[in-house]
Order: sequence, then C-alpha cells, then structure tokens
Amino acid sequence: MPKKTTVRDYIRTIVDFPHEGIMFRDVTTLFADARGFRMAIDQMLHPYAGEQIDKVVGLEARGFILGGAIAHQLSVGFVPIRKKGKLPGTTISQDYKLEYGEAIVEIHDDAIRPGEKILVVDDLLATGGTAAAGIKLIERLGGEIVSCAFVIDLPDLGGRKVLENLGMDVHALCAFEGD
Ligand code: PRP
Ligand code: MG
Repeated sequence: MPKKTTVRDYIRTIVDFPHEGIMFRDVTTLFADARGFRMAIDQMLHPYAGEQIDKVVGLEARGFILGGAIAHQLSVGFVPIRKKGKLPGTTISQDYKLEYGEAIVEIHDDAIRPGEKILVVDDLLATGGTAAAGIKLIERLGGEIVSCAFVIDLPDLGGRKVLENLGMDVHALCAFEGD
C-alpha cells in the first residue's frame, strides 16, 4: 500500500454503500489511525489560530468525534446538535431536506448564549442541508458562527455555495469530486 501522507489518504471509499451508485467516504479509517486523526484535528484547527472561539458545535454523528477533540484542544465547551428526540432537555428544532424526505435536528435551548463565538464541525459537506439546519439553530440562539470546518467537501453537491450564501466561512481539508 502506498505511504499515507495526507488526511485524504486515510479516508476509505466503500463502493455502493448505503445503496448502489454511492461512493461512501469512510472516515473511520482516518479516526482509527493515531497519526491520521491527529493530522486531521491539527489541520482543522489551523485556520483559526488567534481567533476567539467560545464553543464548538458538532453535528451528529461523526461531527461529535471531531468536534470533541477540537473543543478539548481549544479548551472550550462542546455542544451537540442531534437528530430529533435524542436530547433530554428543552430543545429547539429545525427541519431540512434529505435526498428522500425530510429530517429534523435539535439543540438544547440553553446550550449557547447570545454573542458566543461558535465553530461548527462535521465530517462531510455534501448538499449542505445538515450544516445549514445546524447554522439556523445556532443563530436562533444568538450564537455568532466564526466558521464551519469539515474533513471532506463533495464539490459536485454544492454545499459550500449553500453555506457561503448564508454568509459562512467554510473550510474543508480535502475534496472528492467527479464520481
Ligand atoms: C452525513 C454526513 C454529514 C451529512 C452531509 O451524515 O456525516 O453530516 O451527511 O450531508 P449534507 O451536506 O447533504 O447534509 P448523515 O446524515 O448520513 O448522518 P450521520 O452523520 O448521523 O451518520
Ligand atoms: Mg453526519
């Protein structure tokens, strides 16, 4: 196997998962490798050196793994945005479109104070629907989003434009396109 030198090299592609025609970008192989995982966290943090960040918000589910590590590194708190019905306290909800149908994400209504500077984290940016719903929740609580950080961008699906149209700064460590 060729030597792995970039974060992208650690990401495994599973053909036809979860259904035929989909090339699934699997970050579990990145997370499982000590060097790869540290490289990803360090590189995700790099653009924000010297910036004020008060909290990291992670999007379920892989955004929890990345977001937890990033929050720990920054010595700030971590806040989860979860699929509907998973959070125990009082929540606010936001619906968003999926390939087929709709989904709902939620955040605890006391998780962010107005004016707090927020970094949004997830593994992958595809259509941008999930991140856009998360952004709306954070903004409804008065959070000020510093940036949105991903490991993977799928440029063919246009998520970056969607987030930039919401006024977001967007960073991704690598891209997969053309398939
Ligand atoms: C995947 C991925 C992102 C989202 C990106 O999550 O982890 O969160 O899709 O797609 P989008 O930009 O088109 O919204 P998924 O919904 O599969 O759920 P999971 O992370 O809980 O597995
Ligand atoms: Mg996800």
